Amino acid sequence: MQPILVTGATGTLGRAVTSRLLASGTEVRALSRRTQPASQSVEWAVADLSEPPQASGDLDEVVRGTSAIVHCASNPLSRGEDIEAALNLIEAARRTGAPHLIYISIVGVDRVPLGYYRTKWTVERILENSDVPSTILRATQFHDLVLAAMRNLARPPVMAVPARIGCQPVDADDVAERLARIALGEPAGRVPDLGGPQILTTEELARLYLRASGKRRRVLPVPVPGKVSRGYREGGHLAPEHAHGRITFEQFLAGRLA
Ligand SMILES: NC(=O)c1ccc[n+]([C@@H]2O[C@H](COP(=O)([O-])OP(=O)(O)OC[C@H]3O[C@@H](n4cnc5c(N)ncnc54)[C@H](OP(=O)(O)O)[C@@H]3O)[C@@H](O)[C@H]2O)c1
Repeated sequence: MQPILVTGATGTLGRAVTSRLLASGTEVRALSRRTQPASQSVEWAVADLSEPPQASGDLDEVVRGTSAIVHCASNPLSRGEDIEAALNLIEAARRTGAPHLIYISIVGVDRVPLGYYRTKWTVERILENSDVPSTILRATQFHDLVLAAMRNLARPPVMAVPARIGCQPVDADDVAERLARIALGEPAGRVPDLGGPQILTTEELARLYLRASGKRRRVLPVPVPGKVSRGYREGGHLAPEHAHGRITFEQFLAGRLA
């Protein structure tokens, strides 16, 4: 059986995908921009996907011989980088036998006018218009991201949260399970979205966080103006009809903050 390449394998989702694939007996080649400690279970490769292939080592050699690529690498802070990375990966895949390329996107990339979402939507379309066999899965926000946001918001004595915005956080492991299944199957184009099991307001998320972390703060919903905020208020980032994640935010917090 050929290995599966996981890009962004040091990240939240990439780590979970790697574990899921290894648990299913699949060989994993894992990509990072930095040299990782040698591992008995994973074959590490080093490349910066956004660099021209010759500058970042031989990307073809990283991709060659894999049956699928689960593309989890992303840099939300640099708008052009994810597009360059996707183009380089697609070209390397085309040159090396066109393995199944799986892209993780975000629910609402075409509805909420956030720069990072626009970039991800562009990558989706580049992939759809390429001749590389591919699958695109959109997921809602990961629990880890919501926890990081809550930690930041809880720094001051009053916890100001965006008013009238719902959130449907999903566990990265639930997303990883779906991606691992996709990677072991046939290319399917855009597949049904994956959302977390519950839609909660930012206020409810804040209270769950405060209870789990033992912190005491006043929670203050604050209206946030602008198009992006309106997109969120209208629920463009939610997938109520695909609430298939199993782990709730409360369960995640209990595990993480225990
Ligand atoms: N977080 C969410 O709520 C959420 C929700 C839905 C979908 N997604 C999508 O899921 C994917 C993974 O998200 P995540 O939260 O797991 O991200 P993450 O923890 O930030 O991990 C991203 C990884 O990408 C790698 N990377 C960044 N730039 C790279 C480059 N130029 N070349 C090679 N590797 C690069 C980094 O690895 P090294 O530093 O080791 O190189 C990093 O570990 C992203 O595409 C994201 O848009 C995220």
